[in-house]
Amino acid sequence: MCGIVGYAGNIDTACGKPLEVCLQGLNRLEYRGYDSAGVALSAPGMDQVVVRKKAGRLKNLIDDIERRPLPDATVAIGHTRWATNGEPSDVNAHPHTSRDGKVAIIHNGIIENASQLRLDLQAEGYRFASATDTEVAAKLLGKIVDKVIAENGGKPDLFEAMRRMARMLEGAFTILATDCRQPDIVVGARHDSPLVVGLGDGENFLGSDVAAFVAYTKRAMEIDQDQAVCVSADTVTVTDFDGNVIANPKTYTVDWDASAAEKGGWDSFMDKEIHEDPAAVQRTLLGRFDANGDIMLDEVRIDEHDFKAIDKIIVVACGTASYAGQVAKYAIEHWVRIPVEIELAHEFRYRDPILTPRTLVVAISQSGETMDTLMALRHAREQGSKVLAICNTQGASIPRESDAVLYTHAGPEVAVASTKAFVAQITAAYLLGLYLAQVKGAMFRDEIHQVLDSLKDMPRKIQWVLDTQASTIQSAAEHTVNANSFLFLGRHVGYPVALEGALKLKEIAYTFTEGFAAGELKHGPIALVDEGEPVVFIVPPERGRNVLHAKVISGIEEVKARGATIIAVAEQGDPDVERYADVVFWRPQCPTLMSPLVDVVPLQLFAMDMAKLKGYDVDKPRNLAKSVTVE
Ligand code: G6P
Repeated sequence: MCGIVGYAGNIDTACGKPLEVCLQGLNRLEYRGYDSAGVALSAPGMDQVVVRKKAGRLKNLIDDIERRPLPDATVAIGHTRWATNGEPSDVNAHPHTSRDGKVAIIHNGIIENASQLRLDLQAEGYRFASATDTEVAAKLLGKIVDKVIAENGGKPDLFEAMRRMARMLEGAFTILATDCRQPDIVVGARHDSPLVVGLGDGENFLGSDVAAFVAYTKRAMEIDQDQAVCVSADTVTVTDFDGNVIANPKTYTVDWDASAAEKGGWDSFMDKEIHEDPAAVQRTLLGRFDANGDIMLDEVRIDEHDFKAIDKIIVVACGTASYAGQVAKYAIEHWVRIPVEIELAHEFRYRDPILTPRTLVVAISQSGETMDTLMALRHAREQGSKVLAICNTQGASIPRESDAVLYTHAGPEVAVASTKAFVAQITAAYLLGLYLAQVKGAMFRDEIHQVLDSLKDMPRKIQWVLDTQASTIQSAAEHTVNANSFLFLGRHVGYPVALEGALKLKEIAYTFTEGFAAGELKHGPIALVDEGEPVVFIVPPERGRNVLHAKVISGIEEVKARGATIIAVAEQGDPDVERYADVVFWRPQCPTLMSPLVDVVPLQLFAMDMAKLKGYDVDKPRNLAKSVTVE
């Protein structure tokens, strides 16, 4: 959703740094939203907060600032928007200001009681320029600031005003504010939306996530649910919404460099991140074994006894993460022999799921901020189940609110369409499954080690796909670029891979695409197959041993007979596939349960090539945001 950045510097030296930090932070946060951007600056002597905002990409704002430079400042806030209330436009862009222009705010989330608050304010004579809930909060905050000033004998207290407002708002929000009468501080508050502090020397930062300030500092502080924060150059104060000071907020060191979130010579972040698939798997395996090669999940804070008692797993996730969970279901049920359900997080709590203390709920999320997933895990915990998060973002809300966390170490993922996170999530879920098999004695130690050996070999196999299949994939994209629709079909673990391949093409190439279980073909989807319709099949490995191989080949024959163009993902040299497919993306030999880790890679590349051929921005597809922090 929206990206938020804030900076507080030295009160004695108004300079260009606050603006620089905001623009640089917004550049890194643009993946969260990119339909408009804006900044607000305060410095001693200003009569009003200086605001500049522009519809469209951040570049529009930067160009505008270059044409009409902004004054030096001591503090600043910046925002990149993903519209929820009100269309993307200059007037709806953040920051929004108080009636007297002395206070400016930026906001991520949705304020659910904004309509009522707006009516109340209108009744008092307030007028609104925009359609946003944020402007309502800006006017309200301005009103509260004035009230606090009157109570304090003329002394402004933006922090206190922010807390009072936070108590009045319903819905989800992270709000930052600056007041030109207090040009040494930036204040913030959060409820069901992320906010993190960056700790500098003689300067402090605020951000939706650490990407906002990682170029300046790697020391970060967590702001918890229903907390407010006030940063100046030298101080950080955290309180609850009633003003009680939080004694020792948790701090941590960011484990990646700013360079990890840069393109580094690649054409797009997506290209870079697909090429990091092998490293994402490798890094997720790193440090997870003891000297005997047994799995050791130290960071998982659930004790072995509780793990042994688990008799059911429910995976909750959205989008790509849910498909990773679906892959893991096949593996974990096979290894551990306990049922694994996979549920879209937004459906989960509305179906009254059966949860007991022996159910382990696994919340998978790259960002760790997906509101639907967060709500699902809260529901599971309320019902007495333990929740384990598989997450790629240190200190995010989902791992913080879970009983345990297994971090994927894919590194920051910037492109909106998830790629390397998917393979890292499967790897982490496999580690969890094998660990459960280990503690429950569901598999022999040798068997576990054998599976782990195959898993450890997967980065090399993914690399082989990247090294050898790129030109075939590119020419397949060229041949099918004008197709109106695609079908993706797979069975067993190939089924969620088909769904993920279809999702990638929808997300970034805007092609109508459906993924199905290949067995379902004759029950409906085959009616869609016409002359030249491209159909992508994920053909299972282990021909001759895997009964599903022959069944998928039959499916290929059926659609081939109806004139379809067949694109297959298949094991190197598979003669059946060679016979029928028009194009084959080859995979090196690997066990069936490992195949998703390689099979998704050509599909990621295919979607990217297709989007580039159509001239789309692969990193920032229309209408999407990477981190969906509203329900
Ligand atoms: C959004 C993104 C998807 C992502 C999903 C889940 O819909 O566009 O790419 O898969 O959220 O995100 P998460 O951060 O929870 O993995």
